[in-house]
Amino acid sequence: MPRCALRGQTFAFKADPFEAGPDAAVAHDSDGAVVVEDGRIVEVGPAAAMLARYPGIRVDAYPGQVIMAGFVDCHIHYPQTRVIASYGAQLIDWLNRYTFPAELAFADPAHAAAIAEIFLDEVLRNGTTTVCSYCTVHPESVDAFFTTATARGMRVAGGKVLMDRNAPAGLLDTAQTGYDQSKDLIARWHGSGRCTYVVSPRFAPTSTPEQLAAAGALWREHPGTLMQTHVSENLKEIAWVRDLYPDCPDYVGVYERYGLLGPGANLGHGIHLSEREKAVLRATGSGISHCPTSNTFIGSGLFDLAGFTEGAAPVPVGLATDVGGGSSFSMLATMRAAYEIAQLRGHSLHPVKAYHLATLGSARVLRLEDRIGNLAAGYEADMIVLDPAATPILAERTRSAGSLAEVLFALMILGDNRAVTATYVAGRRVGGSGS
Ligand code: GUN
Ligand code: ZN
Repeated sequence: MPRCALRGQTFAFKADPFEAGPDAAVAHDSDGAVVVEDGRIVEVGPAAAMLARYPGIRVDAYPGQVIMAGFVDCHIHYPQTRVIASYGAQLIDWLNRYTFPAELAFADPAHAAAIAEIFLDEVLRNGTTTVCSYCTVHPESVDAFFTTATARGMRVAGGKVLMDRNAPAGLLDTAQTGYDQSKDLIARWHGSGRCTYVVSPRFAPTSTPEQLAAAGALWREHPGTLMQTHVSENLKEIAWVRDLYPDCPDYVGVYERYGLLGPGANLGHGIHLSEREKAVLRATGSGISHCPTSNTFIGSGLFDLAGFTEGAAPVPVGLATDVGGGSSFSMLATMRAAYEIAQLRGHSLHPVKAYHLATLGSARVLRLEDRIGNLAAGYEADMIVLDPAATPILAERTRSAGSLAEVLFALMILGDNRAVTATYVAGRRVGGSGS
């Protein structure tokens, strides 16, 4: 792909705001540019001086708009696209009433392909360029997901859900078939183009100890793959896990026993963890996906974000929509929910930290922080353009904004997909509100 450039307000990270503080972490140029070639960022710098060195280059101009890395949603369920906005249930009822019936339909590859298309279009419309998604128990659902993402050139992670109990018969595998099918899928998809495979035992209640052991073995046998599951989301769920695994000290202890913790482990929710469980996550380098709209929408609880990110030994935390438990595909709306939950816990989440969680934080949980999540030379050119004047109230609120942080905050509180002017995947413009 020939060289091209984007020009506008560039926003990148030169340090981790949780370590260096928000001000020292930001690289911002009010008239900056990004030069892209062959799907990668070549250079980011002041527009006038830098572009003078590239005579004749095509420039997509976004004066006054914010150019940044695309969002990374590190926990989502593409098969639950039609489950979003399902009324009146908490986790276990919600799974039985809405989610499992919806997932049964993915035995049909044509249905899986159709939903994967709708899902990824919605993801890109919202400025999310990478997702880590659960598929269903059906291997065909994984083929549909990776095939559709590959056609869009997207970097994605995903995997076949493993479930061998406590779900409808049509959604069950066995420890052996789940292992065998996942192994085949790893051979087919892991490292193919921009795809990463994720070993995906759904959560402890829907797997036997034998299946969790097989999942741990499979993950160990395939270095570079990731592992995703759910943990400590809902109080009834936690009591159920205690009954099902009486020999384990707690919920995290179940995953610890079966070899499912470590760098590249991506645990969704983690709302009600004990101090012992937190210490185990820290010691093993496991990551957490914070899913704030899901945690409020299905009534699960208020995640202690600061407790994980602000201490001396932080845990890798990413930000995630968890659609269909989550109520929005927008990472801007998800940042707003994270801010509101932090407020309810007596802590104000700084916007620069929120955007870091939504990009590099999530990328780190997925072990992709050297490839995606920042606007910097060498990074893959997955980028978005946000318009601080996208709606009348955003325009009004940002008219007098004195700093980039204030603009970013207004965008995350007031913005949604309408604020995403453009989405670029590997340097190619693929969507946005203008498309
Ligand atoms: N726990 C087990 N499965 C799920 C799921 O699909 N969504 C959520 N939010 N929690 C879960
Ligand atoms: Zn989930």
